[in-house]
Order: sequence, then structure tokens, then C-alpha cells
Amino acid sequence: MKKALLAVLLICCWLSARSATAQQKDPNGHAWWQHAVFYEIYPRSFADSNGDGVGDLNGITSKLDYLHKLGVDAIWITPCFPSPQVDFGYDVSDYQAIDPMYGTLADFDRLVAEAKKRNIKLILDFVVNHTSDQHQWFLDSKSSRTAAHRDWYIWRDGKGPGQPPNNWYSTFGTAAWKFDPATNQYYYHYFYPEQPDLNWRNPAVENAMFDTTRFWYQRGVVGFRLDAVDTLFEDVHLTDNPLLPGTDKFGRPKMSEKFNKKQPEMHTVLKGLRKVADEYHAVLVGETWTSDVKELKDYYGDRNDELQMPMDLMLTGLPLSAPVLRDHIAATDSSGYWPTYVITNHDIVRSYTRLGDGSHNDDIAKLMAGFYLTLRGTAIMYYGEELGMKNSDPVRQEDVQDPIGRLGWPLEKGRDGERTPMQWTAGPNAGFSTAAKTWLPVPESAKTHNVETESRDPNSVLSFYKKLLHLRKNDADLREGNYMALNTGDPNVMSYLRQYQDSAVIVVLNMSATKQTLAFDLAKQGFSGAPAATLAQNGAEVPTGAFQSVTLAPYGTYIAKLTK
Ligand code: GLC
Repeated sequence: MKKALLAVLLICCWLSARSATAQQKDPNGHAWWQHAVFYEIYPRSFADSNGDGVGDLNGITSKLDYLHKLGVDAIWITPCFPSPQVDFGYDVSDYQAIDPMYGTLADFDRLVAEAKKRNIKLILDFVVNHTSDQHQWFLDSKSSRTAAHRDWYIWRDGKGPGQPPNNWYSTFGTAAWKFDPATNQYYYHYFYPEQPDLNWRNPAVENAMFDTTRFWYQRGVVGFRLDAVDTLFEDVHLTDNPLLPGTDKFGRPKMSEKFNKKQPEMHTVLKGLRKVADEYHAVLVGETWTSDVKELKDYYGDRNDELQMPMDLMLTGLPLSAPVLRDHIAATDSSGYWPTYVITNHDIVRSYTRLGDGSHNDDIAKLMAGFYLTLRGTAIMYYGEELGMKNSDPVRQEDVQDPIGRLGWPLEKGRDGERTPMQWTAGPNAGFSTAAKTWLPVPESAKTHNVETESRDPNSVLSFYKKLLHLRKNDADLREGNYMALNTGDPNVMSYLRQYQDSAVIVVLNMSATKQTLAFDLAKQGFSGAPAATLAQNGAEVPTGAFQSVTLAPYGTYIAKLTK
């Protein structure tokens, strides 16, 4: 008996040692993605190689040198699979191909190979909750009540004639149930009616979806961003959701999503996806919307066996305030998990517009970069963020592309504003495309905020990002150092040390519209005698001699090296 136990123990040790080697951890025990900067690309809007007004894979390939020089380590491409494009790719009609609008599988393979040459890894977006209503699985499912794929989706009888099975809403402004007269049942869709929810309680669905990840891993993809994981399961009894006071932006009574979101079974699926990912040493990023850090911890899994990178999307909802951000980072950093920070993406108003005050927007963009790119954790950028691209919402309802913007106008203008073409030059269509008309208009701000112009200006937002991305990669304090908040009572300035061994990086961020001078006493940390060596700054003055104080212009940033 004892011998058998010993043998099991030895096998376990061998297996875990083997997987640790395969994960290629650095001497500090960190995997590649922990120090990486990811860059989200919305393929429709990045670079158009064939002049049809819509971006494509060859366009992305043609910009890999730019991404390499910028200093990103991995790109995440939002869905580029065949799709009727009702939700611009988040309605997938074939998980194992490329939409002809974006290119071919051969173009995809070339993109992976070219990226690899530049040390850039690639992750794809996996839409796990639903397919397009044009997917073969759904077409079959809908064809009859006895079809092979009937149970791959959520079909139910109505409560009575003309009455859906329960009171749930689609988050995109309609009821969550669509009646199918041919089979006299309703199907469930949390998003658009063209995005029917998969039934993850059916093992056949699980197998097919897990196989999809294998297909892409074998093609060189190193991970996935998992879309809308909170919506994977619904309460088995389809219990009505409780109503809340007030109305939502579509004018409906507000509703809690108690029974159709964040159901516990989701964790079983995440564990399963992780198991497959581990076979390929891949990384799973999650679209995880949470209201606090405690909730975010659930997604890592009780044994660190779910998502390696659940996104901290809370930063996208917090104001630019030193006390608020300080508290948030204190909670995240001490959570015991590796944080993944995001300040902007394709579903929310760009950070430049969200946080900008109208007169210091470039300074605020630099400040935000100085903030989240110097924290302990992984960062995910959004294309154009590095230029200070702003949101450019449509001004007329008839110009809106995103269907929720047409339905919810004017309260809900949709997400076109954060998805406008990447701004490469000051020329026609900002160098994005040679088409007469691009799928979304190129904003006026492209004249000043574009790659070509900003590359020539050492004080541009782009130059600041580049500097920080290179610092982050090459500085051991920023890579490995712990996080230590400084001057924690200051209402305007957030400051911290990232210390590792005998040196540290100090970060000082003026989150106010007035000039601030901050004194530091770093005797306790052993940094009182030496001057600081500036690494990056915007609007900072530092007296010469031993480092004691910094004066920062409104929204100024100061990042410096301290040595013992
Ligand atoms: C996620 C995507 C969003 C999409 C939705 C439905 O929230 O980020 O763009 O519309 O899922 O797939």
C-alpha cells in the first residue's frame, strides 16, 4: 500500500516538473504572459490591404513591424471567423475558418509565421456562449424538434400562447426569447436574436467547442480571449429574474440578471477549457466583468485551474482619482493572484475620451499609460490607445452600424465610436485604406493623432507609450518588483514604488488639474541618499541632489529609478 502511494507521489512530482518546464517559467517563476503586453486588434478597423474599406489579416501582417517596434508581445484579434457580421464577428457561423472578408486560412498561417519571426504571439477570440443563427448547428437545430442538433441550443415552450418561457431580457434591447413558428418553440439569446445561446449542458456541445480550441492551438495560436463567459449557463428552471426600480437605456424596467448570468456551472467549463489549454501550454484570458476584486478571484479557479488572465475590467469604470485608483490597486495587488489590467476596449468609450477633461487629454493619456503599464501584472492595450485615439460616435442615427445604436438611439449610440479605423497617417483615410468609403468614417482627429506624425514628435502620446513599453520589458524592478503604495493619504497624487532587490522604480502620478508638489521620505525603504534617475516624465520638475520631492504639472507623470 505504502509503495503504491509513493509511486503515485513520484509520478505526480514528475508530471508537475514536466509541465513547469513546458510552461517555460523564468527564474522568478513567471510564465511569458505575465510580463507581456497584449494588444487588441479589431480586424475590421486596423489595416485594409485590399482597398474594400474593411481591415483584413494581410493588413495586420503588414503592420507587424510597427507592433514589434512599439513593443507589444502578443496580439489578440477579435473574431475573424466566417460570420454574417450582425455583431461584427461575434456571431460566428463557422469556428474553423476565416471570413473571406478578412482573408484565408493561408493568410492566417502567414500572419502567425510572420508574427513569430518578430517574437509576437497570437491569441484569438473564442465566442463560447452563442453561435450565429446561420451556423450549420443552429440551422439543423431549428429544422425540427427531433433534429440531431436540436438540443445544442436552448429551446423551450412558451408559458402560454404568445408568451415567452420567462421574463428574461436580451442585453441588446429586446426580449431574450425568439419564437420559431415552424417548430412552435422559443429559443434563447442573451445577445442579438441572430446569436442563439449554445446549450453547454449538452456534452456534444462541450466536445465540439473544446475541439475548436485544439484546431487553433495546432495552427500556432497560443491562447484565447474567452468572450462573455458569464452568460454560458442559465438557471435550469428558467426562474424569472427579479425586477429592479428604474428603467434601462432601452426604456425597459431594470432587471437583475440573477438567473441568467454567472451561474456556478460556468466554472466547470472554464476548468475543462483550461485542461485543453494546458495540453498546449496556452493561456486563457477572460472577458470578466466584476464589481469587486473578490468576485474577480473566482475566475482563476480554486486551484488556479481556470483562467490565467481574467481581465480586471473594473478600471474601465473608475474615475481618474488618486484615492479611488489607489484603493483598487491595493485590493488587486494583495489578492494573491496575477492581475490583468485593461483601460479600454471595443465595447466601451475609449479611455482618451472617458477620462479626458477636454484640455489635458494628451497628458491624461500619458498619465494612464504611466499608471497601468508600471503595475505588477499583465496589460492589455487596445489599438490606437497608444496614439490618444478618441471616441468618435456617429452623429446621425442613420449612420450607425452597431445595431444596438440604432435600437437605443440616442441614449445608446452603439459601439461604433470606439471602433473607427486605426490612424496611420495624416493622409486620406488616415492611411487605413485606399477605398472611397471606409466601413466607419475616419475621425478628424486623425490629422494630429496618427502614427506618422506622432513618431516624429518625441513628446507625443505614441512616443511616451513606446518609451514605457520598452522600459517595462527591460527593467527588472518593473518586471519583478513588488508594489508599495506611497503617500497614501494624498488626495491628488498617486505614487508607488516597484522594488526588486537593491533598486526600485518610483512612479508619481498627478491625477488632478492643479500643480502638485509631493515630498517623499524613503529612508525606511533605504532610498534616502541618492538622486533619482528619470526614466520617463511628462510635466515633472525634480530638484537636484538626493531625491526628496517632485513637482508635477496638472496630470503630470514622473517615473524614475532609485538605487541604494
Ligand atoms: C462580448 C464582446 C462584444 C459582443 C458580445 C457578444 O461582450 O466583447 O463585442 O457584442 O460579447 O458576443
